[in-house]
Amino acid sequence: MIDPYVLRKDFPMYVNQVKMQGKPLVFLDNASTTFKPYSVEKAVLRYYETETSNSHRGDYDLCYNMDQEVLGTRKKLARFINASPEEIVFTSGTTSSLNLVAFGYGAKHLKAGDEILITQAEHASNVLPWFKVAEMTGAKIGYIPLDEEGKLTVENLKKTLTSETKIVAVAHVTNVLAHIAPIKEIAKLAHEHGAILVVDGAQSVPHIPTDVKDLDCDFLAFSGHKMLGPTGIGVLYGKYDLLCQTDPFMTGGGMNAKFDMCGDVGYLAPPMKFEAGTQNLEAIIGLGAAVDYLMGIGMDSVESHDDMLKRYCVEELEKTGMADIYNPTSKGAIVAFNIKGVFAQDAATFLNSRGIACRSGNHCAKILIDYLGVGATVRASFYLYNTKEDIDALVDAVRHGKEFLDAYF
Ligand code: ALA
Repeated sequence: MIDPYVLRKDFPMYVNQVKMQGKPLVFLDNASTTFKPYSVEKAVLRYYETETSNSHRGDYDLCYNMDQEVLGTRKKLARFINASPEEIVFTSGTTSSLNLVAFGYGAKHLKAGDEILITQAEHASNVLPWFKVAEMTGAKIGYIPLDEEGKLTVENLKKTLTSETKIVAVAHVTNVLAHIAPIKEIAKLAHEHGAILVVDGAQSVPHIPTDVKDLDCDFLAFSGHKMLGPTGIGVLYGKYDLLCQTDPFMTGGGMNAKFDMCGDVGYLAPPMKFEAGTQNLEAIIGLGAAVDYLMGIGMDSVESHDDMLKRYCVEELEKTGMADIYNPTSKGAIVAFNIKGVFAQDAATFLNSRGIACRSGNHCAKILIDYLGVGATVRASFYLYNTKEDIDALVDAVRHGKEFLDAYF
């Protein structure tokens, strides 16, 4: 079981806030980004202070050591999601990973009349690349209807899949409603129809144990900074044969085997084929430390802690009678709500005045608005260092929403 008060000693943001303000910020915006432990900070500093060099570009010890560090992190990530190291591609984040699949695989394989299926609950990063690829290829975009709770169900997928569907692209955990999609069943159905399954794992990989072999997804995208790692680093997992069928999105140094004056080019095998240019080496090393930290705690424990906080938050917010909650039944570590009668951005400003950090707005899920029936929500999102006390602070603020309204008008 996680004791978040003990864990907070590992996080400079908590330690420093206590030193500077006497108490920490109530940070409930973990779906956006997460705090980093000292071990990640130290790993990044280690690169700058004792290990600076490029990888794959030199015959001296520092370079060799850097190659080993990069390979070591690739192996750690592979273990973390039960993949093979050569199926782990470093990118700058989920957005870049999904764009790589859309343009490297989708644009290459789709043709006019083919269909890409997504849902209304997707983040912009799992919508806009597909819009663009549809425009480029003549493929069409279809939507798997959400059920009355905002969930993606196997039944609705069954009704929507056709022989024209070539790509199904969905979030494992959506970033507003936080429903966990039945990826294993979705993969099975998609494959039976001859489609591949692309999974946006930005909100799932940091929070729940992930086994790509068991899920049988074809591609999985996720970000380092939402799982205690540095910003600017992410991963695209792809089944090796599909990575071989994917074109690089960027070309340049480090990804080619040869090229000549006639324009004849040979690419390296995956994953190197996709890693053009000098990589974000300090962030790769930092991400390795983040994975060590999470594996040390255990993803089952992270999931249970998140789940406990989610249920507690929903129960306590419901007791106030002051909140409209949009996802009380979902299992992900996010509560999307509004203080009754208060515009979401005003509510977030009010929460900020009480030292509580929540995101408000449409959370980059702009086509979810039609389903929700409101243009904006407040989003509280939790992680392993959050406490029940954090939620008590949020709930107490929500109880005072009416006073805020009175003051405001
Ligand atoms: N994708 C991040 C979020 O949902 C930024 O907040």
